[in-house]
Amino acid sequence: MALKSWQQGAQLVLTNSPIAIRMGSINELAEKTGSRDFILHSIGMSPNVRKDIPYEQTSYENMLKTFDISALSFHRILQTAYRLDAIREWGSVVALSYVAAQRTLTGYNDMGDAKALLESIARSFGYIYGRDRRVRINTISQSPTPTTAGSGIHGFDSLVDFSERMSPLGNATAEECADYCVALFSDLTRKVTMQNLYHDGGFSSMGMSLKAIEQYKKSFEECDCDEKE
Ligand SMILES: NC(=O)c1ccc[n+]([C@@H]2O[C@H](COP(=O)([O-])OP(=O)(O)OC[C@H]3O[C@@H](n4cnc5c(N)ncnc54)[C@H](O)[C@@H]3O)[C@@H](O)[C@H]2O)c1
Repeated sequence: MALKSWQQGAQLVLTNSPIAIRMGSINELAEKTGSRDFILHSIGMSPNVRKDIPYEQTSYENMLKTFDISALSFHRILQTAYRLDAIREWGSVVALSYVAAQRTLTGYNDMGDAKALLESIARSFGYIYGRDRRVRINTISQSPTPTTAGSGIHGFDSLVDFSERMSPLGNATAEECADYCVALFSDLTRKVTMQNLYHDGGFSSMGMSLKAIEQYKKSFEECDCDEKE
């Protein structure tokens, strides 16, 4: 995303947690892009997902951590940017979300609640930031994408396969997500704000697709399981 925005002429500031900076390649990316314009919130982590603790067995502390890192961090970033007046008029803020904010998906755990909160913060701050500074705030609800965080979800590969079969255009890739972010940062989307925008090949509007039902039927033909009845 950073690379794509930079290629389109954006100036950037790249940030992450100290551990991710040490272990990842953010410094190389910063050197390449010469790291100042819009904000992308791309932070997510759930101790429950990470430790395979089911939703019904979580502790208050674990859930607080999930909400703090994955959603309240968005409020804090916006609050700081607003206080420092760090975003230009007609600037743009995007946070990455997932359809588990609206629909229950097995294995996504308390991240579904965190995403619902994240999308709500985009609306609440979107009103204030739009009214006072003409800054727009949206969330992109992205297809499941193989990344570090994504791969931590229980049954992630099956989820990717299922949504690929369910989506008429197929899953949106990380590269395509970067393109959509660039579109939302551009001046061509100046009046789009307080929206959760699905970038998922159509998944969120589907009930059942031919490809998915064919695979579902096949699974019953191949086994002699009780669920047949
Ligand atoms: N991968 C998917 O399938 C998918 C789908 C839809 C939305 N998203 C969202 O996209 C965003 C980016 O996730 P990703 O899939 O690229 O995975 P990722 O693991 O590459 O990114 C998660 C980021 O969160 C950061 N992070 C975690 N804990 C932090 C903390 N305490 N403080 C600061 N930063 C912290 C990590 O360092 C990492 O950079 C997340 O909000 C995720 O929920 C991912």
